Amino acid sequence: MSEMELRVSKIKDGTVIDHIRGGYALDVIKILGITGKDKRVMTIAINVPSKRFGAKDIVKIEGRALNPQEVNRIALVAPHASINIVKGYKVVEKLEVKLPETVEGIIKCVNPCCISNSGEPVVSKFYLKTQEPLLLKCHYCGITLDEADILRHL
Ligand SMILES: Nc1ncnc2c1ncn2[C@@H]1O[C@H](COP(=O)(O)OP(=O)(O)OP(=O)(O)O)[C@@H](O)[C@H]1O
Ligand SMILES: [Mg+2]
Ligand SMILES: [Zn+2]
Repeated sequence: MSEMELRVSKIKDGTVIDHIRGGYALDVIKILGITGKDKRVMTIAINVPSKRFGAKDIVKIEGRALNPQEVNRIALVAPHASINIVKGYKVVEKLEVKLPETVEGIIKCVNPCCISNSGEPVVSKFYLKTQEPLLLKCHYCGITLDEADILRHL
């Protein structure tokens, strides 16, 4: 076990989100809607040295296996993350994150005049335009959001 891995404790059952771009762990937490108020044990490591990325973040969530929608949401902020499902202290499954074709209800549209911002019961909806660079197009007003817009409107 490397020195980096020794910095965070083992979990028995849960999810390890590894290879998050350095500095983006808190955005991953936010996109999953995790606040810490549910008393779940969670470990966050930020900017740990990584051979592959220079610096990476890791999020370990005890007692929670992510569903496929949650896994794909992570791709919006951490497209190269690996999801490891842990059972009995062992990684039993590895999931790849994949950008969804449509993103509903997670991001707010940047256009204040968009119907999804009008107070009407309209859930925001975006289409994946391009993956690199990440661009989303609003279903309602057609405006394009870039990565910075997405991070600001989570
Ligand atoms: N029980 C556990 N509790 C906490 N973290 C764990 C546990 N088991 C594995 N991990 C972490 O999950 C990640 C993936 O574990 P794995 O054993 O598959 O490592 P790996 O071979 O380096 O995988 P990869 O090829 O995806 O980098 C690593 O960051 C590892 O430290
Ligand atoms: Mg590794
Ligand atoms: Zn819009």
